[in-house]
Amino acid sequence: MNIKKITASIALLTVLAPSYAAEPEDIIKYRHSVMEAYGSHMAAASRIVRGKVDFHDQLKLHADSIDGIAKTISTLFPEDSDFGDTRAKEEVWSKPKEFADAVKANQQAAADFSKVVSGGDKAALADSFKKLSDSCKSCHEEFRTEEE
Ligand code: HEC
Repeated sequence: MNIKKITASIALLTVLAPSYAAEPEDIIKYRHSVMEAYGSHMAAASRIVRGKVDFHDQLKLHADSIDGIAKTISTLFPEDSDFGDTRAKEEVWSKPKEFADAVKANQQAAADFSKVVSGGDKAALADSFKKLSDSCKSCHEEFRTEEE
């Protein structure tokens, strides 16, 4: 790479990685994208677990992605991201301990599901998946408003 190209790459990196803090609106949009991805991996995994499709070799991909996303949830709700286009209830911020518990329960369920998938115990799959799905629902019941 010549020096001109290197300089151009550095300039591009500077544009791609701005040093200012993200706008709350962008954090909310990012949060929605991550949650949508979470929902899609769950929906795909559910179709495999229920035997609707025979893609068992892809279940680990979904389980690992779910496990990875579960670890990010606690970072997606910073203090100033509580307004505008969001269905997050104010309790996310006014009941931090309860919210942290819901995050933790979900993380544990995701880690357990991933372990069951890797272990290949098909008899335990449905039950483990249900526990995981229940952990999403119980957080949504407490911390997300109904869709209008
Ligand atoms: C600790 C709480 C919590 C857990 C656990 C959780 N969610 Fe959410 N989820 C939320 C909140 C709060 C919102 C609303 C976010 C917003 O509108 O800003 C949300 C939004 C969503 C959305 C809608 C995204 C959008 O575009 O508005 C989907 C889909 C979703 N979650 C799926 C899941 C799935 C699937 C799981 C479990 C695998 C899960 N969530 C686990 C709290 C949680």
